[in-house]
Amino acid sequence: MKRLVVLHGANLDLLGERPAVHYGTITLAELEQMVAAEAECLGWDCLCLQTNHEGGFIEYLHEHRSADAMIVNPGAWTHYSYAIRDALELVACPVAEVHLSDISTREDWRRHSVISPVSTFTVSGKGPEGYLEAVRRLVETSGG
Ligand code: DQA
Repeated sequence: MKRLVVLHGANLDLLGERPAVHYGTITLAELEQMVAAEAECLGWDCLCLQTNHEGGFIEYLHEHRSADAMIVNPGAWTHYSYAIRDALELVACPVAEVHLSDISTREDWRRHSVISPVSTFTVSGKGPEGYLEAVRRLVETSGG
């Protein structure tokens, strides 16, 4: 069975408490359940992980670099972590960069993603639905 790995970074463990105007009211557990259900529906296995430690996030990327597909939302690291960017370069499978909020319409510093150039595609500003779109596109890219 093919495996999707979903990685969340800094502060995403507190979804549900973060500003609802940007992130809605869904909790991380609910979001992960939704994503796993979509993947399982398409015949894939799904592993969801979260950390507030940049080094831990990088180690997850190393550990799972031979997964069949990945969804990453590194939170604020998206905007400046060249270490995460370099780790993503070592991931062999298709990678979707997903953001709940539309980073292109927020503060200047949030508009730039250092990981977009090493991601297969980006989905931003579609809330939880963006993750489901990413699952479907990744499964399709990987041939089902
Ligand atoms: C985020 C956007 C980032 O700018 C922010 O730091 C986050 C979440 C999003 O999902 O919209 O923590 O990645």
